[in-house]
Amino acid sequence: MRALRVAVDGPAGAGKSTVARAVAQRLHYHYVDTGAMYRALTWKALRSGVDLRDARAVARVLDTMDLTLIAAGPDDADTRVLVDGEEVSEQIRTPEVHASVSLVAGYPAVRAAMTRRQRELAQEGGVVMDGRDIGTFVLPDAELKVFLTADLAVRAARRQAELRARGFVMSLESLQEDIRRRDRLDMEREVAPLREAADALHIDTSRLSVAAVVEQILAAAARACGGTP
Ligand code: DC
Repeated sequence: MRALRVAVDGPAGAGKSTVARAVAQRLHYHYVDTGAMYRALTWKALRSGVDLRDARAVARVLDTMDLTLIAAGPDDADTRVLVDGEEVSEQIRTPEVHASVSLVAGYPAVRAAMTRRQRELAQEGGVVMDGRDIGTFVLPDAELKVFLTADLAVRAARRQAELRARGFVMSLESLQEDIRRRDRLDMEREVAPLREAADALHIDTSRLSVAAVVEQILAAAARACGGTP
């Protein structure tokens, strides 16, 4: 049997990237952080001086953008990202990019091009891909789909810790508000909105350790391929 495609979706702060990366390491699969792809495009469009309200201009930036994702090792927090050969791993996670990425990710032409790239990356199987629309839209026939959620307060606290590690200080109230706004944008957009696939394994990570969530997913992966994935 060919190696699985594992789709991990859920709202911001549910723990997707931490969990997806750990599952990929345990299975010796590739990890693809699709949020980093949308962030990289947003960074490049901002740097190129493109008007982010111009959907066609933003899509044109993507057409000529050379994007490389390097999955992080066990000790690194995030995927390393190269745009046209330049490392922008830190730059794509600044508040400036954060504030604009939902707009960019909402454009149908951008989503179509990103979806094409993501499907290519998953073609051979042996991949754990995290995002918002992976199980419902990018890989609707993925062998294993996981949907992670967590309480709003927990998600805001996680985001606060993540930002603090990068040297940014934000209050919990403003982060909760930001997450609410982001959830709304992700769930209400017309193309590939954030939705739980009917056949997804649903895990609320609010009161679970990363290790416990990873074990649940590995057990589901073993069931999905009738043995060892
Ligand atoms: O997971 P993240 O915070 O890095 O995602 C960044 C943004 O990209 C967020 O606004 C949601 C959007 N996104 C998306 O629309 N579809 C995906 N598959 C992944 C991310």
